[in-house]
Amino acid sequence: FLADKGNHRHFMAKEIHEQPEVVGRTIAHYVDMAALRVAFADPFPFDFKSLSRLTICACGTAYLAGYVARYWFEKLARLPVDIDVASEFRYREVPMTPGGLALFISQSGETADTLASLRYAKREGQHVLSVVNVATSTIARESDTTAATLAGPEIGVASTKAFTCQLAVLLALAVAAGRARGVLSADEERRIVEAMIGVPSLMTEALKREVDIEHLSRELAKASDVLYLGRGTSFPLALEGALKLKETSYIHAEGYAAGELKHGPIALVDEHMPVVVLAPPGELMEKTVSNIQEVAARGGRIILVGDARAAHEAALDTFATIEMPDVDPIVAPLVYALPVQLLAYHAAVFMGKDVDQPRNLAKSVTVE
Ligand code: G6P
Repeated sequence: FLADKGNHRHFMAKEIHEQPEVVGRTIAHYVDMAALRVAFADPFPFDFKSLSRLTICACGTAYLAGYVARYWFEKLARLPVDIDVASEFRYREVPMTPGGLALFISQSGETADTLASLRYAKREGQHVLSVVNVATSTIARESDTTAATLAGPEIGVASTKAFTCQLAVLLALAVAAGRARGVLSADEERRIVEAMIGVPSLMTEALKREVDIEHLSRELAKASDVLYLGRGTSFPLALEGALKLKETSYIHAEGYAAGELKHGPIALVDEHMPVVVLAPPGELMEKTVSNIQEVAARGGRIILVGDARAAHEAALDTFATIEMPDVDPIVAPLVYALPVQLLAYHAAVFMGKDVDQPRNLAKSVTVE
């Protein structure tokens, strides 16, 4: 394999732009396009129906993919989820009921804390399922079952395409769990699978906002602190947005659940604080918009990531809008991840930072 940036200045840009293709490939691998059903090649060697709990464990961006998936497993499969970062999980002395399912997510498949957590779960009698990008990795080898992400090699230290491919696999798993547990009807499954199949073209649509996003990233570049807000699956995506910006541009950023704003972070808001609000369609969109009003009333400069309806509802209160295509709420995190990645990328490039190799960070953390 020869690492090649193609027509891009950085691997991170190339990997962001590859997403319609690699996410499309990953989705195609896990759905039956004709039957509009989720389809895993081999039957699972465990039964989603008899599970009382799913444990998810990972680090960094992979952890945040798991955090999004928690909402999916709970909503689509009514499966209770325990999720933690691996560095905490491995020492928490979590009691686990033998026969349970533990899910590990890792791009490299070599992260030391994730691997140690996997070994702990095995000792606790769990069935180990992993979502990994490197099929030959230690985590893949030590797992009972592996569901691969087909992102291809990811070179940029800040994870982008691996994240959205992880989301694609995790959504397929949540749908499979929902079917097995008798929660999702065939019609609902069909609707979700159709939405998944539509993701690559929506991603291509979202990438067309790049010029606007590049322009807005200069606003972020001027700031010393940036807040990211979202509700539901947009909450972990807000955490991911803040993580991406910190990693690549070294600007201090925090992600917060939009409804938690009034319990602290609103005290920070003034006219110097850009606030990126992720407000995809869905039952929580209006509640997010009312949080926007609270921020605007304190002079905060809102960058809204939302569709035409959200833009209309929040119009008076926003500094700028990154207008997104219409998406089915269930797949929104896959599509809304792209503007979040592009904001971080362009802020860092504008500031002259080394986006592919940020200081102090490693692509794969193989020591504790
Ligand atoms: C490092 C990387 C992140 C990655 C995390 C987990 O911190 O810089 O991009 O999300 O490790 O890595 P993994 O390979 O386990 O997904």
